[in-house]
Amino acid sequence: MKRLRVLVLMHPALVPPDSLEGRSEQEIHTWKTEYDVVSTLRASGHDVRPLGVQHELKPIRDEIESWKPDVVFNLLEQFHGETAYDQNVASYLELLRIPYTGCNPRGLMLARGKDMSKKLLAYHRIPVPAFAVFPMRRKIRRPARLGLPLIVKSLSEDASVGIAQSSVVDSDDKLVERVTFIHERIGTAAIAEQYIEGRELYVAVLGNDRLRVMPIWELQFGSMAEGASRIATEKVKYDLKYQERLGINQGPAENLAPELRARIHTTAKRSCRTLEIDGYARVDFRLSAEGIPYFLEVNPNPEIAQIEVFAQSALHDGLAYPDLLQRILALGMRRATPTASAG
Ligand SMILES: Nc1ncnc2c1ncn2[C@@H]1O[C@H](COP(=O)(O)OP(=O)(O)O)[C@@H](O)[C@H]1O
Ligand SMILES: [Mg+2]
Repeated sequence: MKRLRVLVLMHPALVPPDSLEGRSEQEIHTWKTEYDVVSTLRASGHDVRPLGVQHELKPIRDEIESWKPDVVFNLLEQFHGETAYDQNVASYLELLRIPYTGCNPRGLMLARGKDMSKKLLAYHRIPVPAFAVFPMRRKIRRPARLGLPLIVKSLSEDASVGIAQSSVVDSDDKLVERVTFIHERIGTAAIAEQYIEGRELYVAVLGNDRLRVMPIWELQFGSMAEGASRIATEKVKYDLKYQERLGINQGPAENLAPELRARIHTTAKRSCRTLEIDGYARVDFRLSAEGIPYFLEVNPNPEIAQIEVFAQSALHDGLAYPDLLQRILALGMRRATPTASAG
């Protein structure tokens, strides 16, 4: 394997220390991805430079011009604190003609927001929850076509920001209340989606043109209180103590009929193709009681820490973590080579 110079872009607050010693588990959790990527690429023999960026493009350009990396590993999820600017950073790297990992700007854009991707996929008859968007400062009225219960979310935020038990509403009063909460407290438009009761499944997808899908993963909600909605709230996703107390876990999805597995895999690939996503991505589904996998969202450049869904399901498929990162580098470099663009 060729030794590469890899420039790793990340949030300045997430530049990891050289060792995990003396750090608490919850602390490590915040920059685990950055730590895993940097330390694993180094252990693989690459020359790795982490670079924290947030308000200035110049350091990126300076590093590229002076150090001449072979490839940029793009772990940035925001710029100026704006998640929507991740596509602009990818665009900037394209203009600099430097190969970079993960998704292209167009895929990042089409996957953004909780309405756009669903509109595009519905055109191809991929099942998506019915929904309505509620812009700020507009009267909140449920369209007749949209039945209850609904789940109310921020239209633009991710990482389950603003998602709690009270997000699932079963009356018009509660709908108005929660949409107002999103408008006032999160400060964005809201989306109300048909609430899909059922299992929560994830599919990791790797590739540019030829897509490799990993074994289907499931978020198991453990012993959540009777009557509680089994959804991935902020607490479920990020509170390690809460996860442990309730036995919230992620693992291979058991007991899915082979035809259903195949359907979910195909849908995951079709979703990535329709949304022009490349590199690596995770597609999220809810499996309804009728056995229909509803597309929830696709996350281009998903969490890539060793313990997260993507790397775990890849490992389950025989792709060890160092090989996965190597593959992600290779996909970024291959895309940048015009003669190999069909690969
Ligand atoms: N239509 C839906 N039906 C059932 N559960 C949902 C629905 N939409 C979201 N959820 C739950 O909320 C979680 C977060 O929603 P998601 O749309 O993925 O937003 P985020 O970008 O914050 O992850 C999902 O993982 C799922 O548990
Ligand atoms: Mg999600």
